[in-house]
Amino acid sequence: MTGAAENQTFRTAIVPAAGLGTRFLPTTKAVPKELLPVVDTPGIEIVASEAAQAGANRLVIVTSPGKESVVNYFQDAPELEEALERKGKSKLLDKVRRAPALLDVEVAIQKEALGLGHAVAQAEPNLTDEDEAVAVLLPDDLVLPAGVLERMSAVRARHGGSVLCAFDIPKAEISPYGVFDVSETDDPDVKQVHGMVEKPAPEDAPSTFAAAGRYLLDRAIFDALGRITPGSGGELQLTDAVALLIKEGHPVHIVVHRGGRHDLGNPGGFLRAAVDFALDDPEYGPSLRTWLADRIGN
Ligand code: UTP
Repeated sequence: MTGAAENQTFRTAIVPAAGLGTRFLPTTKAVPKELLPVVDTPGIEIVASEAAQAGANRLVIVTSPGKESVVNYFQDAPELEEALERKGKSKLLDKVRRAPALLDVEVAIQKEALGLGHAVAQAEPNLTDEDEAVAVLLPDDLVLPAGVLERMSAVRARHGGSVLCAFDIPKAEISPYGVFDVSETDDPDVKQVHGMVEKPAPEDAPSTFAAAGRYLLDRAIFDALGRITPGSGGELQLTDAVALLIKEGHPVHIVVHRGGRHDLGNPGGFLRAAVDFALDDPEYGPSLRTWLADRIGN
């Protein structure tokens, strides 16, 4: 048995995709940002694949009326598949079949974008008694390389409670993030969390560990989500529910992920991700590299 399977503490992953995507207007008038392609694959498929690799077998996508295409993306496309088969386009056929084969996809609806915490709460009716903990992955946050959820699962198996993912950010650059107040454990990359400060000035930051869009949450989060009131931006914030759990003595730890990250939620971050992935792509990488060097040279 592999380490991941031994420490498997969740089977269901929740992906909230019901936001308005205002930073990507005007495109998001018609196209959900979760479906924008990183080279040729939507961000939400990359994240769903990460969840499947970490042992999830069920994905609950929280979406809003009008954004059903996010869920449709994970359904079979028999007519298209037949056409590709007829034309002998086997590589494309594999790509088209990849997302529906990853894991079982279900939908939950958030009627109004009342915040990330509210979005996650809409997935509770989809859970079964076996879901003692759930993974939450933000589809606009690529955490690279994949694998942090397995480590988070091992931390829950050892310490119980909920586990979040963090990046170690230089102090001077910490201000845009939610920052954890932590104490050490016997593992240098695992810290116990005592609180969180949103967007602090560098001198007020309690640490250099900033929150990323991966959460492994004890089922108790849903009760906490029912008790929070609107916070930052007038929205029901997931971090406020986590803070409530901490206050009530629920163990919360972070795993410090020493890797890369792309924020697909704004055009600047999205472009970086697309270029990063395209440079590694055997088909598009070499000519992109040459063109970029030439473009920058000029
Ligand atoms: P973001 O804040 O990045 O997404 O939320 P947004 O609100 O769509 O983007 P902007 O700020 O308007 O540009 C992180 C994730 O949480 C989801 C979003 O869809 C995104 O995937 N979300 C956010 C919801 O599902 N519901 C909400 O009410 C808010």
